[in-house]
Amino acid sequence: MDIKKIISEMTLEEKCAFASGYDAWHTPGAERVGVAPIMMCDGPSGLRKRAKINGSKEYNTTVKATCFPSAATQACSWNRELIYEVGKTIATECRSEQVGVLLGPGLNIKRSPLCGRNFEYYSEDPYLAGTLAASFVRGVQSEGVSACAKHFAVNNQETRRHSSSANVDDRTLREIYLRAFEIVVKEAQPDTIMHSYNRINGRQASQSKWLLTDILRDDWGFRGFVMSDWNAMRDRVLSLESGSDLEMPGQGAYGQRDREIYDAVKSGALDEAVLDTAVERILTVMDKLTVDENPAPSDLDANHLIASSLCDECMVLLKNEGKVLPFDKKQPLAVIGEFAHNPRYQGGGSSHVEPYKIDNLLDYIHEYNGEENTVYAQGYSLRDEKPNEAMIAEAVEAAKKCGRALIFAGMPEYFETEGRDRVHMRMPESHNALIRAVCEAVPNTAVVLLLGSPVEMPWLDGTNALLAAYLGGQALGGAITRVVFGDVNPSGKLAETFPKRLEDTPCFLDFPGEYNECNYSEGIFVGYRWYDKRKIQVNFPFGYGLSYTTFAYENIAVEGNKVKVRVKNTGDRAGKEAVQVYVGFVTPDEMKRPVRELRAFDKIELNAGEAKTVEFEMDDRWFSYWCVDNNKWCITAGDYAIYAGPNAFDTPLKAIVRKEGVNEPQLFIDMTTTFGDIATRPCYERVRAFFFDSMFPSKEFADEVAINGHGMKNKHIWASRYLVPRMFVDRRNWPESKIYEIMDEANAILRGETEAKKTELDASTNEQGPSYTF
Ligand code: BGC
Repeated sequence: MDIKKIISEMTLEEKCAFASGYDAWHTPGAERVGVAPIMMCDGPSGLRKRAKINGSKEYNTTVKATCFPSAATQACSWNRELIYEVGKTIATECRSEQVGVLLGPGLNIKRSPLCGRNFEYYSEDPYLAGTLAASFVRGVQSEGVSACAKHFAVNNQETRRHSSSANVDDRTLREIYLRAFEIVVKEAQPDTIMHSYNRINGRQASQSKWLLTDILRDDWGFRGFVMSDWNAMRDRVLSLESGSDLEMPGQGAYGQRDREIYDAVKSGALDEAVLDTAVERILTVMDKLTVDENPAPSDLDANHLIASSLCDECMVLLKNEGKVLPFDKKQPLAVIGEFAHNPRYQGGGSSHVEPYKIDNLLDYIHEYNGEENTVYAQGYSLRDEKPNEAMIAEAVEAAKKCGRALIFAGMPEYFETEGRDRVHMRMPESHNALIRAVCEAVPNTAVVLLLGSPVEMPWLDGTNALLAAYLGGQALGGAITRVVFGDVNPSGKLAETFPKRLEDTPCFLDFPGEYNECNYSEGIFVGYRWYDKRKIQVNFPFGYGLSYTTFAYENIAVEGNKVKVRVKNTGDRAGKEAVQVYVGFVTPDEMKRPVRELRAFDKIELNAGEAKTVEFEMDDRWFSYWCVDNNKWCITAGDYAIYAGPNAFDTPLKAIVRKEGVNEPQLFIDMTTTFGDIATRPCYERVRAFFFDSMFPSKEFADEVAINGHGMKNKHIWASRYLVPRMFVDRRNWPESKIYEIMDEANAILRGETEAKKTELDASTNEQGPSYTF
């Protein structure tokens, strides 16, 4: 399509109308100039195509599609290739249904376990979330379908999602909340981005030029178009100027919002070129899309197998004392819990898929264990949170009779859904009481949890085997059964921490905020960064997951910019391991730093007894933090530990890498600068001699101060708190004007304008002689 020509032929009205959707589910179209609307559909865990049947004017049904594990579950696979495959497969279903844009992935950070939409998001860690989202986007776009990375940005709660302001400092934004989006844009260049409903530091995301243009386009190089979340826009003209190109959903042919744009152009309040740019961006993406006129239908059975193999890798074995699992086949077994009949396999809200078929969990168990060996007991009612004593007694009885039990428990769908946050982190008491009673009566019991986010586990100590199956999509039944009976060796690992109590979580006091303000007071300490730094015991850390085999982390080596980690399968069966690499700064400094942060991972497969060396390539970001003083990524000179291990709290291998400083902030000397600052901060190196020569009687003394630095040693403790200029004024009686002269001279040296030279002391202002007894 000749986009420039089309735009030049469009009337102003047509261009205004083109900046909003054709209806709830279509990009705009401009019939007169031959541009047809293209359909967009949710969502990240499968195609959710709304359709009109039986002559309805409204979208009154959802087309059947493959329901993949939800994003929270997918992330537990730590498998980029599988997630790429999922994206690609969903896109083929889009192609069959003539859908051009898929509204996913969702990559917001799980700030609190309570966020009602956590099941739709990948992780508490931005590197993991961004990397997996990038694989998904690449998979989708490989089929000529556009992906939409959402919800940009800092949309971490559902409570007051249209009005709440996420009040976050710049470092936290860059390192945590924007980072996953930065990765997805730079690595996968999604065709579209959906901005979020909320405000960020008081400004509506839709009206933030800083977010939608300065960072997204100018800084990261995004080339697609930005659309609004559904009904997220406020001021249409301001949004357009800020970089929000398309308003969704549309309001029909030429709605009120389109007229607002028209009037603004006519009155000169809006430059028409801004509108032209938005239209051009939308047309450019539409031009790329492949919408087949007569598409072949999807092979949903083949796609079910892809959902199935992903689901196998998402099962996280959290506990297996006394090797309760895997269960032997064809032995008496009590299967307990209404979820066994009616499993929860996806989340609620806009990502809800209409599965074309669902693996029947009980049928699978019967197939593996023999129906004649298997007894079912309901255990609880999904409609009642209060423990049902009769059902529990029946379940205990069945478990005792069989000598082993498999309990399905977790959270009903109404606990976690779009539009509402949870208010506590507990499972229904009916599930807790059942687990307690059965595990106490029959230790040979395994508990399988179906849920989209972490829960408290008051029964954990009394439970020997625990499998987090999360929300596995339509193939969940088979995947659970294969893991429980040992046909599949579990290899999932948590993409989020399971804390012990809600009160331990980083934003316990600030979630979901007060009225419309939510202060992110925990800063960068989100997820494991918080528990690690504060040494808070958790139930299961980020990255955790067991296998039926064991792995030894044998060796780490750093060669050039490569980190090599050798891992061996020390057990007696083949298995897969997500090898994780973390980095932490170990030279003491004044910055707040996480103990370690995930910087790389790879999932490998090892036969029994086999060892492999996994290679990772270091880059500057491994060592960087966002420096608010100079608005850049910066590396502080010093030593960094590279850790490798099976999870965030278990990193047996460690190597030290020394880094030069990059973009370190150049601070200048002012009335608040201390001796300690001058003695230790690399940025003052060039004026250190200048200052100390003019202050101290002997080189030895100056050296000692320099060495002791912040000087928490004996008499030099003052070095850390005494302000340089004040000392001259207070102790030496120097006039303030002289101090300013010295500071100006020092700052000129720091700016590179003058050479550092030895100052000649003016004897008259130094008549008391040097003094250093403070
Ligand atoms: C959700 C989006 C979704 C859109 C369309 C909104 O309410 O926040 O994630 O894509 O609806 O269903």
